[in-house]
Amino acid sequence: MAKPKILATRPLFPAARAILDAHFDVEYWTVPERISRAELLKRVADKEALVCLLTEKVDQQLLDAAPRLRIAATVSVGFDNIDVPACTRRGVAATHTPGVLDETTADFAWTLLMAIGRRLLEGDAWMRSGTWPGWDLDQLLGGDVWGKTLGILGFGRIGRGVARRALGFRMRVLYSDAVRAPSEDERDLHAEFVDRDRLFRESDFISIHVPLLPDTRHLISKENLEKMKPTAYLINTSRGPVVDEAALVDALENRKIAGAALDVYENEPKVHPGLIPRKDVILAPHMASASVDTRTRMAVMAANNVVAMFDGRRPPNALNADALELK
Ligand code: DGY
Repeated sequence: MAKPKILATRPLFPAARAILDAHFDVEYWTVPERISRAELLKRVADKEALVCLLTEKVDQQLLDAAPRLRIAATVSVGFDNIDVPACTRRGVAATHTPGVLDETTADFAWTLLMAIGRRLLEGDAWMRSGTWPGWDLDQLLGGDVWGKTLGILGFGRIGRGVARRALGFRMRVLYSDAVRAPSEDERDLHAEFVDRDRLFRESDFISIHVPLLPDTRHLISKENLEKMKPTAYLINTSRGPVVDEAALVDALENRKIAGAALDVYENEPKVHPGLIPRKDVILAPHMASASVDTRTRMAVMAANNVVAMFDGRRPPNALNADALELK
């Protein structure tokens, strides 16, 4: 019997390819340039499954172009690239990759936090310029990390991972979330549930771990930036549009906050031009989950979701399994 045809918009990794190749007739997009929208719409036309990235939109237009599609599996935990209700209306399962990137992402939030607080990139640039004159008392003075207050916006798995790492730095941890964490978690992580207003006012570092939803878009607004301490830093490894970049540039220019370290951008891959020349900003290319092990786990997870669907099992990470009544 002919194997179901599927499209993967990247070559993925050998471990994920082995899973897919055993079950499907897979077309991989292998050229270095990412797949264009027109090419994606063309190539998905005869496919029953799509393994895609967060840069590819699975929307009504794509669903209309893919009448045979049964599942869209994004290799990301964030799924703002997928119109889940539209998939559900068409009977298409939508899956993502939760759980496997939490610790790696929490590590990277800390990488940014330490690097911006201690001005590491400025020091690196100075050394490479060949102009460092040697040690001096008042060079590159930054903000302490240990003993300071860390505010975590969004206390899911990644936010909690960030809090756990703060224990070693003897930080005071504040968090806000739509749902309060169980008291054992608060106790174990020494984390205090506060309203957003207090979090903005009292934190020395604010790390963002909320999904992109209508009510988190521009959560970091002019108004909230103005509540922050002038010595505080902002770290974003969640989704770019959570931060109003124009308001952030304004806050930095007017010294309302001390700095920002960003892994994600409002209009990726574009970066607000006002951020680029700033020394009080670190710009990373959406790489928080980019370890070999984690990215492999993500791709394998997406592949296993597709296999489950065609085996007649409920894809373990389906976002609309109940709506589709998948057993
Ligand atoms: C995700 O998975 O949503 C990240 O942004 C990339 O790892």
